[in-house]
Amino acid sequence: MKTPKRIQPLVDDGLIDEVISQLMSGKEATVYMVRSGNEIRCAKVYKEAIKRSFKKAAQYQEGRKSRNSRRSRAMEKGSSYGREQQEHAWQNAEVDALYKCANAGIRVPTPFGCFDGVLLMELITDSQGDVAPRLNDIELSAEQALADHATMMRSITKMLCVGIVHGDLSEFNVLLDENGPVIIDLPQAVDASANNNAKAMLARDVNNMTHYYAQFAPELKQTHYAKEMWSLYEKGKLFPETELTGEFIEDTTSADVVSILEEIQAAFDEEQERRERINEANEL
Ligand SMILES: Nc1ncnc2c1ncn2[C@@H]1O[C@H](COP(=O)(O)OP(=O)(O)OP(=O)(O)O)[C@@H](O)[C@H]1O
Ligand SMILES: [Mg+2]
Repeated sequence: MKTPKRIQPLVDDGLIDEVISQLMSGKEATVYMVRSGNEIRCAKVYKEAIKRSFKKAAQYQEGRKSRNSRRSRAMEKGSSYGREQQEHAWQNAEVDALYKCANAGIRVPTPFGCFDGVLLMELITDSQGDVAPRLNDIELSAEQALADHATMMRSITKMLCVGIVHGDLSEFNVLLDENGPVIIDLPQAVDASANNNAKAMLARDVNNMTHYYAQFAPELKQTHYAKEMWSLYEKGKLFPETELTGEFIEDTTSADVVSILEEIQAAFDEEQERRERINEANEL
């Protein structure tokens, strides 16, 4: 097909030899099948911020720090330089997350880099060599659903262990190839330790996936993987190989109200004494 304008710079630089076809155009990006030498790859061209309908950008960007202070100040102020930097940060967030995930042994498309707002990555295909289907397009047997759900919980655990929460995980952002589920679409991935919404986002990701697999294996509805994962993560006890049970016992030990009230009273008394000492000193 005719080379789209946004891909031309990558053709000029020899990163892409030919654009074969457009796979799809979504809210945030247009995805193409391309040829680089002998390899067929996937090119994701991000839409500009104005065209992107990204409702909760602030929620996702929280805790996403720029190492360069001039850049952070500009991003906060929202100047045109700031907007450009923010755009750059957004585009690089996905390729950064892909590299981190791939290095941690999580199944994602192998990234080849992000150039001029175009992410080049491995094209995920099925056993026939056709573009792999999304989970929402397929039916699974109960056994397959249980096995893939376990793989998915392991992938989410491994992600959390490298400090990432996907933030938009669902059957629309997981492809299925002959070896199982492959996670895609990570530009909104959040930093698990710096973002106050990380716990809620993790719960949503886990619950979306569990809900999907539970259509084929209803017993999954009784599981509580998100709570279990987060509780271990907070205590520094979550590791890539941690065996999760899906069970979670809420901490029901009630707070010791009496001793809390005593502490408040003690702090109050101390403050009173301090003020009295100051008054006495002033009167002298
Ligand atoms: N590496 C890949 N290999 C094969 N297909 C891919 C790959 N990356 C993306 N796709 C296809 O392109 C679609 C859109 O990709 P992606 O979800 O990353 O973009 P998006 O703009 O966020 O889309 P949406 O708004 O639909 O979530 C995917 O649903 C999938 O069908
Ligand atoms: Mg998507």
